[in-house]
This record gives sequence, structure tokens and C-alpha cells, in this order.
Amino acid sequence: MDVVRSIQALNEQVKAYKQQGKAIGFVPTMGFLHDGHQRLMKKAREQNDIVIVSIFVNPLQFGPNEDYDRYPRDEERDKKVAESENVNLLFLPTVEDMYPNDSSINLQVVSRNEVLCGKRRPGHFDGVVTVLTKLFHLTQPTRCYFGLKDAQQVAVVDSLIHDFNFPIEIVPVSTVREADGLAKSSRNVYLSEQERAEAPSLYQSLEAGRKLVIDGERNPVTIVKGVERFIQSHTHGKIDYVELLSYPDLKPVDYIDGQVILAIAVFFEHARLIDNVIFQREGSKTDVTLGG
Ligand code: PAJ
Repeated sequence: MDVVRSIQALNEQVKAYKQQGKAIGFVPTMGFLHDGHQRLMKKAREQNDIVIVSIFVNPLQFGPNEDYDRYPRDEERDKKVAESENVNLLFLPTVEDMYPNDSSINLQVVSRNEVLCGKRRPGHFDGVVTVLTKLFHLTQPTRCYFGLKDAQQVAVVDSLIHDFNFPIEIVPVSTVREADGLAKSSRNVYLSEQERAEAPSLYQSLEAGRKLVIDGERNPVTIVKGVERFIQSHTHGKIDYVELLSYPDLKPVDYIDGQVILAIAVFFEHARLIDNVIFQREGSKTDVTLGG
């Protein structure tokens, strides 16, 4: 595995891959790698000649009161994980190299952003699309891999690729969970013992909501209320949001009729956890469809 820190060295490598006609699979991450990230790497490994993983904790996507400074980092361990997944190139840029000057152009996400995390974390997705635009240009992937754990991110990146004609296929990958259902996240390390014991209730609340749909409920308000009650009675967390929207357009719906997302964000003392399920009108989970 090549470990590359400078943009110039990356450019040279990518140029060589391109000259050899290799298909490149790209997995952008912020590190502290876990099984969720590894699932993306495995998928990329299956579908491409070359796998590039980036690790970059992107300051632009963190709000002023968020956890940029204490975001967990472990470069040595991450290198071993990437190596074990047969990654060809690990790109570890510095903030100074990625953002050398005050930028003269800002990207702003104006659709699929006014709900869920986009609404509660102003500027977050602007920061995500800015770093990804740079990383896509640098790595020139054939395919890029994103986890549905961050389903709004998948929807926004789908728009980015479509709006700016990146010749890249986006591959959404389903959420990897702990045995008890908790979605794997680098931020789970912030949970206290009691919070960790309560945290599986988040996924259970989503599945309880989906069960209502399977049993015939089609009114989003009833489902959202059911999920809220479940979270309140099973955890000490504070609900940031529970929303049910069309997916990937992320529009409010009056009636469930098509692919929808049921998504939650809950504050624990030192961590804000998100999770979601995406399902069809009768409640079944099938392959998630995107489409610009
Ligand atoms: P990060 O949170 O490190 O996640 C990197 C990728 O791993 C994302 O596509 C995310 O959805 C996926 N992922 C995280 N947990 C997962 C899980 N439990 N199951 C499946 N996939 C999971 O998302 C980011 O970084 C950043 O916003 C980034 C895209 C790198 C831009 O800075």
C-alpha cells in the first residue's frame, strides 16, 4: 500500500493509474476506521482495479460548536486497517495542503439540505461538497463509495455528481451495525456505559416505525410520533429530529407512497448519533435507488 501525503505525489500516482486504464474505486473517510468504512473498501475492492482511500478530518464541515478538535484520530491503526483491506493508495493530506489560501469560491448546497442534518448543521454539507469536489478531482475515480448511515450525504453527493457532471458512479452501501443493532460510528467512543446500553434503542425505534408501515400505516405524522415516543421511553437522549421524507429528494410527504427515509438524530451527553432506515411504500427494505 502506498501512503501518500502530498497532492503532487497523489497526482503522479493517479496519472499512472489512468495511463494504465485502471478503474479506480474511491472511499473518502475521516479516519478512525471501523467495519462500516471497511465495508465500503471491500465493495470498492470487488468492483475496481485500484482502491484509493482518503483520511482527512475536514474542518470545513464542522460547525463552531462541534467536535473538530476532539474528533477521534488513530493514523497508525488506520494504516493497518486499510492495508488489511488491500487498499492500493492511502491519501493523508494536511489541512494546509487542502486549504492553502482563503478560498475565492464557495460551494453552497441549495437542495436536499433544508431538512435533517442539513437544517441542524448549517454549512455542514457545503463543507462536504467542497472537500469532495477537490478529492474527486484529485483521485479521478471511476466509482465512489458512500455509506447509507449518512443517507443525506449520499443524496447530496448524488446531486453534486449530477449537477457538476462528474464522470463518477456513486455506489451507496448499506449501514453496518453492531450485533445489538447500533450503527457503527467513529463517534460511538464518546458514549458512556449507560448511553451505550441505551443506544441500540435508536435502531429499534426506526424498526418500530417501519413496522407501523408494514402493518398498514401510511401517515408520516403517526409514524414520527411513534418513533419519538419510543426514543423518549427507552433512552435519556434528547431528540434533535425524527423525520420521514421522500428519498433521495428529501421532500416532506403527506402519505407514504414510494421510497422514503425515516431518520433520527439524538443527542447524548458527548455525542450526537444519527441513524435511518430507507424503505418502500409497504415497509420493505430493498436496494436503495438514487438518480440525480
Ligand atoms: P466518515 O464519517 O469517516 O465516513 C466515511 C464513509 O463511511 C461515509 O460514506 C459514511 O457514510 C461511511 N460510514 C460510516 N459509518 C458507516 C456504517 N456504520 N455503515 C456503512 N457506512 C458507514 O462521511 C464522512 O466521513 C465525511 O463526510 C466525508 C465523506 C469523508 C467528507 O469529508
